[in-house]
Amino acid sequence: MDDFDVLPLHRNKHFTKQCCDLINSEWPRSETARLYSLENSCDTLPTSLVLVKNDGNNCKTVIGHLKLTPIPSMPDSVFVETVVIKTNQRGLGLGKHLMYKSEEYIKTLGLKTVYLSTIDKKEFYLKLGYVGCQSISIYGSFSSAVNKLTTNIPPPPSKKQYMKKKLIPKIKINVRYQNCQSSLKTIARSLRNRRLLDRTRDRLNKKN
Ligand SMILES: CC(C)(COP(=O)(O)OP(=O)(O)OC[C@H]1O[C@@H](n2cnc3c(N)ncnc32)[C@H](O)[C@@H]1OP(=O)(O)O)[C@@H](O)C(=O)NCCC(=O)NCCS
Repeated sequence: MDDFDVLPLHRNKHFTKQCCDLINSEWPRSETARLYSLENSCDTLPTSLVLVKNDGNNCKTVIGHLKLTPIPSMPDSVFVETVVIKTNQRGLGLGKHLMYKSEEYIKTLGLKTVYLSTIDKKEFYLKLGYVGCQSISIYGSFSSAVNKLTTNIPPPPSKKQYMKKKLIPKIKINVRYQNCQSSLKTIARSLRNRRLLDRTRDRLNKKN
């Protein structure tokens, strides 16, 4: 996967048009609306991440995209949506690569849980460690207030399946390694002291 990079779109704006075309090839929508949505990408969410293939000679092509959206009611979580890989690049492990790299990016933001919803790609996400969960709202308290005002009517049954994955924080190997090193030093020191003691005892015994 050396020829592929996962990059935040707002830091690589020259990929915006390619990204727009890729998403629209899967979910057609007005280009203006799509570009407007992509231009909202920023460091603090929403963030669009693009999977870029290095074709050589400094030529790069956008072949994947996903969007990280904040969940107002769950500030330590994120909602992943608009996951797409270019049609002719599917089935090569690139969707998995994009998801895993995005999870690493999400961890750097200090976020702990990833949510998403899918209609027919449940198997794909199961393979990546996602599990089914209760539906969640990414629209914040306003929409739930509206819901409360407008409902006694139950919502229509949805085919969407919500899924989530808890991210495992990076283990600070350096610290453990340092601890390990200092323990080894302590053991070595006490062994040296022990040998010194033994030698002194031997010498004293010989003298006596
Ligand atoms: C869903 C999508 C992103 C997967 O990307 P991909 O690059 O084809 O997937 P990968 O090659 O990385 O597949 C990873 C694993 O998931 C499996 N997988 C992928 N799509 C699958 C599907 N539709 N059903 C069952 N398994 C699937 C693969 O067999 C592979 O399994 P393995 O690790 O055991 O070999 C891609 O098919 C796509 O863009 N689809 C159209 C847009 C879409 O539906 N997006 C999802 C919205 S929720």
